[in-house]
Amino acid sequence: MVFKPPFGGWGIDVSYSIFQNTWSLSPHLGVGVLMFRILFFKYLVFKPPFGGWGSQNLIIMTIILFGPPGCGKGTQSALIADKYKLKHISTGDILRNEMELKTELGLAAKSYVAGGKLVPDDVIIDMLMQAIKTIEINQNGFLLDGFPRTIAQAEALEMKLAERNKQTNLLIDMQVNEEELVKRMLIRGELTGRTDDNAETIKKRLQVYSELTYPVKTYYQNLNKCVSINGLGEINEIFKTICTEIDKHTK
Ligand code: AP5
Ligand code: MG
Repeated sequence: MVFKPPFGGWGIDVSYSIFQNTWSLSPHLGVGVLMFRILFFKYLVFKPPFGGWGSQNLIIMTIILFGPPGCGKGTQSALIADKYKLKHISTGDILRNEMELKTELGLAAKSYVAGGKLVPDDVIIDMLMQAIKTIEINQNGFLLDGFPRTIAQAEALEMKLAERNKQTNLLIDMQVNEEELVKRMLIRGELTGRTDDNAETIKKRLQVYSELTYPVKTYYQNLNKCVSINGLGEINEIFKTICTEIDKHTK
């Protein structure tokens, strides 16, 4: 008799909650036994003795990739997350996934995204707090792409990190002129059919960026945590510039 592992295989997942200072083990048993996995996870959370097995020395780094729609946040995030072993959290990607799955959150977000408007802060902040609750054992921190997009989101993030005596290490502001941004997004719209990549919605997204999101940069400038880079040119050259800045500011 041959036993085949279910979809995704068998194994043990190890994760660390940075806010509760707990390590968790959960069996990786595949999709079919999700409920069992959740129950097991719930009861197998344990606290390290005397405050830790070195967990408090974990360097939890938070980097924000910032800039207008189409500046290359998603493209660069993939490279940065891989090099620095960061958990890549893109609020736009999470929302698109929820919309595709037609979840309650996805259905609620749909008209905002399609209209180029921001999804309300309370919804997004909740979503982000869920995403930063845990981190894999081999990850060094978070790479935030598309968050924070309002001052309220920035304040909520910094408040949460402060609970662990942490703060955002660096906001990287990617600068690209409007003509290039529009060109990139229109091309992508044609290639992928992304619904908010059309002329009218792009115009709205750029307007929302300058009115509501741009002030977030000033917020981090005041904290001395902001660096601006040129987002025009070869993807790999931009990546090198970003790495130089991360190395400079996190050493
Ligand atoms: P989101 O998905 O975050 O979209 P965005 O910020 O508008 O940015 P994009 O994803 O379009 O661009 P990008 O900067 O990631 O660039 P990319 O690498 O893809 O948000 C979508 C919507 O979700 C929002 O409008 C809002 O409704 C909602 N939302 C999300 N987060 C929210 C929040 N925090 N609060 C409230 N609402 C929120 O590159 C773009 C294109 O250019 C690609 O085709 C790429 O191949 C190309 N490219 C990249 N680099 C280069 C280069 N160097 N040269 C030439 N082409 C390049
Ligand atoms: Mg993106």
